[in-house]
Amino acid sequence: MARERWNSQLGFLMAAVGSAIGLGNIWRFSYLAYQHGGGAFLIPYLTALLTAGIPLLILENGIGHERVGSAPLAYHKISPRWEWLGWWSVIFVMFGIELYYSAIISWCLNYFALSFNLAWGDDPNAYFFKHFLRVSDSPFRLGEIRTPILFGLILTWLAIWLVVYRGIQKGIELANKIMMPVLLLLTVVLVAWSLQLDGAWHGIQVYITPDFAKLNDPQVWIDAYSQIFFTLSLGFGIMIAYASYLPDKTDITRNAVLIALINSAYSLLTGFGVFAVLGFMAQSEGKEIADVVTQSIGLAFVAYPKAIGLMPGGNLFGALFFLSLTVAGLSSAVSIVEAFVSAVIDKFNFDRKLLVTFVSVFGCLGGIVFTTQSGLLWLDIVDRFITHYGLVTVGILECIVIGWAFDLFKLRQHINRISSLKLGMGWILLIKVFVPLMLGIIFFGDIYNELQRPYGGYSWAALILIGRDWLILTLIAAFIVAGRPWRSDRPSKPGRSVKSKIDVS
Ligand code: ALA
Repeated sequence: MARERWNSQLGFLMAAVGSAIGLGNIWRFSYLAYQHGGGAFLIPYLTALLTAGIPLLILENGIGHERVGSAPLAYHKISPRWEWLGWWSVIFVMFGIELYYSAIISWCLNYFALSFNLAWGDDPNAYFFKHFLRVSDSPFRLGEIRTPILFGLILTWLAIWLVVYRGIQKGIELANKIMMPVLLLLTVVLVAWSLQLDGAWHGIQVYITPDFAKLNDPQVWIDAYSQIFFTLSLGFGIMIAYASYLPDKTDITRNAVLIALINSAYSLLTGFGVFAVLGFMAQSEGKEIADVVTQSIGLAFVAYPKAIGLMPGGNLFGALFFLSLTVAGLSSAVSIVEAFVSAVIDKFNFDRKLLVTFVSVFGCLGGIVFTTQSGLLWLDIVDRFITHYGLVTVGILECIVIGWAFDLFKLRQHINRISSLKLGMGWILLIKVFVPLMLGIIFFGDIYNELQRPYGGYSWAALILIGRDWLILTLIAAFIVAGRPWRSDRPSKPGRSVKSKIDVS
């Protein structure tokens, strides 16, 4: 079976940007920017982008393109010993991040509908936690399944299924060519609208006024690197798979730089919108911005609904805002499923349509735990362990395997041969030394903090049984799948640099 291909470079770019721009850009970035010194946060954020984000994006695009495979196949072609690493990332992202990510999209869909009559009333906080989620007091008290969230989840999975089922060109590429312009339009309208609100300027001042003292706090740097990792979908196996569908001649470095810059520009832009709204709300309520900013999820589902209730035409604003979150989330959710599906097709030669149907049904069933009354608590714990430990471990090993076990100079040669921006020794040093060191510091810094004080005030039992064991179970699954025999002839096909006839300069 021939490997699927993008129809155009633009199609690839849209899909990669669609994967990068997601729920994390809209409120997580804004919240971190606020918490970590407003404009000053841009320093660690941009440092992380330049020293880890773009180099790793080039690495993932490069290896997917050169080895012509999804993450497990690419690692297998480096050495069969490392195939498990590819499986681990696509499995814990698919059966971890994707499960709660789709539940959050379901919340967005619900809030889209609720916006029309501002159903949350005067107390969006109580509405969200007590009425909508009905959060239980312990992760082990599942309570009932919240029917509206379950319906939203089913709709979300239907949409994901439809897109991935249709394949690369007619599904993912086409969907992103529609979703990305729609998202940009919605965002521009919302930001422009927000900037008109009374008090908006005060919010913007808080957003852009740097508090340099915050830069001495190591947590600010740790959060900046983690944010870059999550927002560029690094370690997800997505960029590796997406790059494997590119033609022989493609500009790897320019693509990577474009994806990273568009993604960050989008975050910065939405930051203006978010802070304008917070400024408006602070003014309307006669409060300080500090008193109206709430933690990540609260920003979208508590602070925003509150502001929406106060502004003229708020129901339309609310509907557009939650629609934009839904679109941003869907384009990322689709890419996560594709990374997994691509891996399974590479290894077992399964029929795409059947496989996607199967995966979507399982994904939806697996997501049900996040629709229960303890869903928010599970989400918080699983997210913490996967993003802080899973993705970071994959990032470190990725640098070690590709940087040291594989010939990084050969990969650089392949990338430089076809790209306009050439890579020098700086990139090699970043991948071989700096990025793994930096990620190692983040990893141990997080573990140290965790041991001082269990994350989020949860019991150790909850953190171990739900968080740690989620990662361990997916690791076991990865080793089992990696041990199965290949049912396709793909691993025997060499990388593009091996068969390429293009002259090496
Ligand atoms: N990159 C995606 C996000 O930021 C996963 O949400």
